[in-house]
Amino acid sequence: MNNHPLNNKNVILGVTGSIACYKAIDLASKLTQLGAKVDTILTDSAQQFINPISFKSITHRQVVTNLFDLDNELAVNHVAMAESADCIIVAPATAHTLAKISHGISDDPLGTTILATNAPVILAPAMDGKMFENPATQENLAQLIQRGFFVCGPEFGRMASGLVGLGRLSNTQDIVQVTSMILGKNSDYSQKKILITTGGTQEDLDPVRTITNRSSGKMGFAIAEAARDRGAEVTVISAPTSLNNPIGINVEKIKSAIDMQQSIENHSIDCDVLIMAAAVGDWRAKTIAKTKTKKLKDQNWEIELVKNPDILSSIKNDSLIKVGFAAETENLVENAKNKITNKKLDLIVGNDVSRTDIGFNSDNNEVVIINPYGEVENLPKMSKYELAHEILDRVQTLLN
Ligand code: CTP
Repeated sequence: MNNHPLNNKNVILGVTGSIACYKAIDLASKLTQLGAKVDTILTDSAQQFINPISFKSITHRQVVTNLFDLDNELAVNHVAMAESADCIIVAPATAHTLAKISHGISDDPLGTTILATNAPVILAPAMDGKMFENPATQENLAQLIQRGFFVCGPEFGRMASGLVGLGRLSNTQDIVQVTSMILGKNSDYSQKKILITTGGTQEDLDPVRTITNRSSGKMGFAIAEAARDRGAEVTVISAPTSLNNPIGINVEKIKSAIDMQQSIENHSIDCDVLIMAAAVGDWRAKTIAKTKTKKLKDQNWEIELVKNPDILSSIKNDSLIKVGFAAETENLVENAKNKITNKKLDLIVGNDVSRTDIGFNSDNNEVVIINPYGEVENLPKMSKYELAHEILDRVQTLLN
């Protein structure tokens, strides 16, 4: 993926001796698939759990196991490698490794490389909960954070011992997200504040039933991740969705269109860009029943719906760049052009939501992007994350 912050980056993956080692293979795979050049360093203890060949097979690059391996360029030349690294990830990072790094101990290839690098180092601890809580580990971590190391996790949950506690290795996807955010933080959106809406709003009918739509929230969260990966400070106003909150993004959960409007008013004051990817319900029930509406024999339920405000049209802040989405099932370009004019937008992204291979709940989308002059760009089908970058490229031109 060309526009991903990990693409073409030199990543050193340090793997240390925890049972969570096997998850590092998945991490190496995810980093490699995103275009990173991953060189792996395994400590002696890690090699008790896992074979270096696993990493070599996935990354097709060097795997260092021994500081004195004359056949291995990285081992011999570890200072040069430390200098050319864009980042180092230590996952899993054991209590022992954290202690060694915090004391500058360099008796193995990982320790020497970390001492010799100026690149950001991300530590993903994994250990027994008691070991993590121990003041020795906590002091080592606090000192490392103070020196500028980044820490991802650990997570709370069941550990190999069978005990439940704080000590599980972070989800590998989360480690990838933290790394992306760190690598992208000085990119073109640094110093910019972006507000994004996502999901499908819900309007209550009674305590049990709602009116909603098919929006999954994937597009809005993809834009949020892409903006974060380009250094933006991102807030997402999210209507109900089953998705996990992305790392490094402030997410405010709301339910109805009116909630969303209120939240946008609160957050948009000092923002540079608003991107409304949410599918906002156009109507709400005139009255919401306080108790569950019972079904009576042969009786229909007639619900009176009143119009919700058009949020985009109601925004007064003229300095805000406004991007809307047009969800259409017919006359895509014509309808999207009307919306960009009526809602006074800077850009509109039109998509055909009747297609099952794109749009609602899909990981891909195929859209048209239209500017206020009526110029139409047809974009090919791509992942929502890639599309997010395409949208952000165009917004960047407007910001300039
Ligand atoms: N939108 C909004 N407030 C609404 C409805 C929609 O701000 N009450 C925003 C959406 O977030 C989207 C854009 O307006 O960015 C277009 O939404 P869409 O659902 O495609 O169109 P509508 O304006 O609702 O018009 P219609 O339902 O007639 O197609």
